[in-house]
Amino acid sequence: MTGIRRRLIINYFTSTFLVMLCLEIVVILLLKNYYYSSFQQKLMEKVESNSSFFNEYLNKNHGDFNNCILQLLKNYPDGGRIELQIIDKTGSMLLSSSVVTEKKITTSDYKKAVKGDISTWVGFNPDTNEKVMAASGLLTDYQSNSCAVLRFVASLETIDQLILELSLILIVIGLFILIFIWVSVMHLGKTIIRPVKEMTTVARKMAKGQFSESIQKHYNDELGELADTLNFMATETIKAQELKNEFISSISHELRTPLTSIKGWTETILTGDFQSREETEKGLKVILKEADRLKNMVDDLLDFSRLESGKLILSPEKTDLKQELDEIIGFTTPRALKERISICFEATDNIPQTLVDKNRIRQVIINILDNAIKFSPPQSSIIFKLFHSNGQIIIKVADHGCGIPKEDLPRVKDKFYKGHSKKAGSGIGLAVCEEILKLHGGGLEIASQKGKGTTVTIILPVSTN
Ligand SMILES: Nc1ncnc2c1ncn2[C@@H]1O[C@H](COP(=O)(O)OP(=O)(O)OP(=O)(O)O)[C@@H](O)[C@H]1O
Ligand SMILES: [Mg+2]
Repeated sequence: MTGIRRRLIINYFTSTFLVMLCLEIVVILLLKNYYYSSFQQKLMEKVESNSSFFNEYLNKNHGDFNNCILQLLKNYPDGGRIELQIIDKTGSMLLSSSVVTEKKITTSDYKKAVKGDISTWVGFNPDTNEKVMAASGLLTDYQSNSCAVLRFVASLETIDQLILELSLILIVIGLFILIFIWVSVMHLGKTIIRPVKEMTTVARKMAKGQFSESIQKHYNDELGELADTLNFMATETIKAQELKNEFISSISHELRTPLTSIKGWTETILTGDFQSREETEKGLKVILKEADRLKNMVDDLLDFSRLESGKLILSPEKTDLKQELDEIIGFTTPRALKERISICFEATDNIPQTLVDKNRIRQVIINILDNAIKFSPPQSSIIFKLFHSNGQIIIKVADHGCGIPKEDLPRVKDKFYKGHSKKAGSGIGLAVCEEILKLHGGGLEIASQKGKGTTVTIILPVSTN
């Protein structure tokens, strides 16, 4: 037997066994003590009552000792069960309700009786080798002179037999309890081991990348919780794997588009032998633009990995966010206008200067503005709002574009998550934005309604030191 079952057996069964053993020993000893002391009491009372009967009789018979002890023996009813003995002061037996023995009586009860005490003794009868209990007391005449010792001797066999029977009953009960505990410990072990074994098998499969199987939850306890956690871990790993695959396919696509364009134009320029300066210039411009796009994409990915590993360090400086937004909107407007999208900017006057990493905040706003333009239809507008409230600077970017489906909304800030979007992008923009804002002690909130538009809220705490 190994593992949990062995531990359960050692802990529960062995300890119960030891407790039961001690308990049974104590109960048996108490039983023995109870029966022996009540019998002892009975014998001592017998000595007392018979010696007073003897005294009364001796008074009536004017000191005729011999006649009195004969009368005592004659009136003695318990002859078979408890032997009555009259012993003289030298230890010789004068009379007995059973057999008069030649041997001298020297037991402790007799010796104490000679001194005037009533006491008992437990030992073996030298003639029959039977276990007996004896009680002795002094017989005195009417002048308080000691005459002889009155002794009662009884076999302890019946009492010992009774104690043995009771002990056997107790042992049998104890055995039944132990069997019950053994069975329940085995059952308990089974209820723990079976789910643990199942979990181990499934977890091993999971470790090898097989997530198709889930762990069955048998009980609503810690083991059930563990099964739930492992199943949750499996679903999350599947999601992460799907996300990773989506990301690889999307990023390959994203990288391939500018690369195809660069390759195409390079080939065109080379085969044209640089004859047409106009065409060469056009081609080189496209190559430059696409190379920039590639660089930005790689920069984004690098940023994200730096953010994730906590290696991105901010360089905060006092910044006028209103001026920053003005600038960003200024250089983004031509691109928006190309898509026939207008950008409105509303700002309150009370915007305080705040300590932020200018370039990183610029990156956040450009990313969000890029999304707004990317997901807005022509002829729509994007509204920028900048205001100060409760020690925070709030920037709201609202578009009237396609919106985000309800099921995608909770995950759009996850890395590489693009939801239902088929537009260009690696799905990393919002994740980077959120991380940057968190580093500033701020946050990013997104509210959206499919088909109506999206509002992204940037929250930045006003910080002066
Ligand atoms: N203004 C918006 N309108 C509609 N959907 C949006 C908007 N902003 C974000 N989304 C959704 O959230 C997803 C994640 O946006 P995110 O900016 O992180 O990635 P991306 O724009 O797809 O790629 P990247 O920004 O890395 O180039 C988008 O793919 C899109 O589905
Ligand atoms: Mg984006």
